[in-house]
Amino acid sequence: MKLRLLSGVKPTGQIHIGNYFGAIRQFVELQDKYESFIFIADYHALNQIHHKDELSRYIMETATMYLAVGLDPKRTVLFRQSDISAVTELMWIFNSITPMPLLQRAHAFKDATAKGHTINMGLFDYPVLMAADILLYDTDLVPVGKDQQQHLEITREIAGMFNRLYGETFKIPASNINESVAVVTGLDGRKMSKSYGNAIGLFDDPTTIRKKVMSIVTDSRTPGEPKDPETCNIFSLHKLFSQTELPELEQRYRAGTISYKESKEALITTIERMLGPIRARKQELDRDPGLVLRILNDGRQRAQAVADPKLREVKRRVGLAL
Ligand code: ADP
Ligand code: TRP
Repeated sequence: MKLRLLSGVKPTGQIHIGNYFGAIRQFVELQDKYESFIFIADYHALNQIHHKDELSRYIMETATMYLAVGLDPKRTVLFRQSDISAVTELMWIFNSITPMPLLQRAHAFKDATAKGHTINMGLFDYPVLMAADILLYDTDLVPVGKDQQQHLEITREIAGMFNRLYGETFKIPASNINESVAVVTGLDGRKMSKSYGNAIGLFDDPTTIRKKVMSIVTDSRTPGEPKDPETCNIFSLHKLFSQTELPELEQRYRAGTISYKESKEALITTIERMLGPIRARKQELDRDPGLVLRILNDGRQRAQAVADPKLREVKRRVGLAL
């Protein structure tokens, strides 16, 4: 019996290579080893996106992205969070046992409060919905980026509290954080993020990629000077896209036989080598939205087959099933 893996992405905007290397690529790599459930966290996105056309567009884009990067809907259950009503029911049950201070400690909540934002209940409750996402499917493993680690800890706490109150019901899930690419740096050297405007989109066209790579911030070392690959924003992207070329590149950096311009040109080539085929598959899928919807519909049924019986069990445990 294979262990079960589950993860999701919020459809809140353009997907960038930080999301890909930090989280999504692992879904593809692990889909043979685990029984995989991958979803579109559209209820989580609803906290942030209040324009209906925008939200629907991002949902479709996330679905096609999953397929374009190589998730196979035969092996992986691909579905939308909001298609499974059991998840919000379970969230309510968790709400009823989750202490507010646990959520007041959450980074996302604290950051938003520190910035003086008006916080909606959805943002405050975000980790509880995420716990419901994970625990509803008896998940063994959750591959996520490093910034999701705290949410996983909250999930484990909620599972533990429930189990102590009502008896062993939920598995305590493990996280899988790919430390080697824990944080992908952006064009300006900060963490790549859609909110910083420093990201390379997974589906950017070649002209945009060229423009962005050429704008990567470097120091002012001349072409003939030795350079430090460890502090170079171009090199940190090479590490993600290049495999065999990396040792030679590193050696040329240290010897001072490569200019930043040449390093950028090489990076453009290797980025295109990886993203070109993904972009082409995405374009193909964009022409067939019916196929994408059929895949999501099939995923909904397979996810419900796990989620509904689990919710019934939970309702029995808490005394809601008479
Ligand atoms: P953004 O910061 O662009 O808003 P999200 O918060 O939507 O990205 O993150 C979605 C997923 O992608 C999360 O699992 C997160 O850990 C991962 N991720 C986002 N940015 C990076 C990054 N720069 N490096 C590694 N992983 C990232
Ligand atoms: N919070 C995650 C993110 O921002 C998305 C997400 C929602 C998720 N529910 C999940 C990830 C359950 C893993 C498991 O990236």
